[in-house]
Amino acid sequence: MSSIKADIANPALADEGEKNILWADRSMEVLQGIRERFSQEKPLEGVKLSACLHVTTETANLMRTLKAGGADVVLCASNPLSTKDDVAAALVEKYDIPVFAIHGEDRDSYYSHIEAAVEHAPQITMDDGADLVSTILKSYPELASQLIGSTEETTTGVIRLRAMANNNVLQFPVIAVNDARTKHMFDNRYGTGQSTIDGILRATNILLAGRQFVVAGFGWCSQGIAMRAQGMGANVTVCEVDPLRALEAHMSGFDVVPMAEAAKTGDVFVTSTGDISVIRKEHFEQMKDGAIVANSGHFNVELDLEDLAEMAVEKNQIKPNLEEYCLADGRSIFVLAEGRLVNLAAAEGHPAEVMDMSFANQALSAEYLAKAAADLEHDVYPVPREIDERIARLRLQASNVEIDRLTAKQLEYLESWQMGT
Ligand code: ADE
Repeated sequence: MSSIKADIANPALADEGEKNILWADRSMEVLQGIRERFSQEKPLEGVKLSACLHVTTETANLMRTLKAGGADVVLCASNPLSTKDDVAAALVEKYDIPVFAIHGEDRDSYYSHIEAAVEHAPQITMDDGADLVSTILKSYPELASQLIGSTEETTTGVIRLRAMANNNVLQFPVIAVNDARTKHMFDNRYGTGQSTIDGILRATNILLAGRQFVVAGFGWCSQGIAMRAQGMGANVTVCEVDPLRALEAHMSGFDVVPMAEAAKTGDVFVTSTGDISVIRKEHFEQMKDGAIVANSGHFNVELDLEDLAEMAVEKNQIKPNLEEYCLADGRSIFVLAEGRLVNLAAAEGHPAEVMDMSFANQALSAEYLAKAAADLEHDVYPVPREIDERIARLRLQASNVEIDRLTAKQLEYLESWQMGT
C-alpha cells in the first residue's frame, strides 16, 4: 500500500480505478499529446499545485499530465457526491498522487479535505466552483501571497472570482478556463446535455418520450439539456429570467413559460441556472403527483429542499439517488441525487472527449501561469486565444476531421475594404 498522505475510501479499488482511468484516456488524445510534451519539457518542474475538482477518470488523466510536467500535485473533491472511489484509489496507489476525497462524505469531511489541499501550500490552484480560492482568501490569507495564480473550471466559479476581483480581494491572477470557447461550447453544452440525461435515466430508468420536461435556464448547460431531452422525444419547456435567452429558447422551438405555470404540468424538472431557490415551495405546491426534480447546476442551492422537507410527512429512499418526499395531501415528489449535480452524482459526468478539451485548457493554462503570471494583474483573465485555437485544431485532428484553409485571394479579400459587389 502507498505510504503517501491521503484520505480515500478504499485503496483496494485501485486496479478497477486504473482500468477506468486508462479507458477514459483513450478518448483524451489532446491531453495525451500535452502529457508527452510535458514529460520532456517539464514546464511545471517543482511547482506545488492543489486541485479541487470532481474526482473522475478524466480528472485523473489531468493530474497525471500535471505530474508529468513536473508539478507536485494534490487533489481534493469539488463536490461530496461526484468522487469515484476507485479513481481516488488508483491515483494514490498507482500514480502516487495524494487525494483527499471520499464519495458521500459529509460537510465537515468535505471542508477538511479542502484544508488538506490548502496545507500543501500551493503556488497554483485549480478550482471547479472556487471553493479552494475562497477558503484560502477567507481562512489562510497568509498563503495568498505565495500563489502565482489560479485556474477556474466552471461558470459558477468564474462568477465568484469576478466578484472577488470587483471587491479588490483577489491577490493573484486567475485564468477563466470556463470561458475558453473549446471549453464552454462543448463541455457545458454537449457534456452537460448528455450527462444530465444519463444521470436522470440511471437514477430512474423512466421513458423520456412523451414526457413534459421542464428546464430552468437557457445558458450553455441548460441549452444542452433542453436539446438532448427533446432528442429523446420529450416535450420541453424552458423557464428563463433573461429576455435574450428566453427569446433564443422561444425561437429554438421550445415553450417558454414562468416556473409557476410549468410547475403544474411538468413530469421532470431540471435546474441549471447558477442561482438559488429556482424551484421552491410555491412550485412544489403546484406539482403533479410523481413529479421528478433534479439539479445540474454547480451548487445544491437551486432546489429548495428545505421547503420540500417541511411539506413532507415522510421520506423514502427508493434506490441510490432517488428519494421520495410524501406530502400531506397524498402527492409524492421524487428528488434525484439530493439536489446535487445529477450528472456527476448519478452518472459519470461529461464524457472524456469533451473533458479532453476542458482539461487541455487547464494544463496549458497552468503552464501559461508558470511562465507569464508575473506580467499579469490580480484579475480574471481569459485563456489566451492562441491556446484555445490550438486545442480546437488538435481535437479536430484527433477526431479525424479535416477543414479547409483560406486561399491567398480569400485572405486578401478579408483584409481589404475597397472591394464591393
Ligand atoms: N465536470 C463535468 N463532468 C466532469 C468529468 N467527467 N470530470 C471532471 N469534471 C467534470
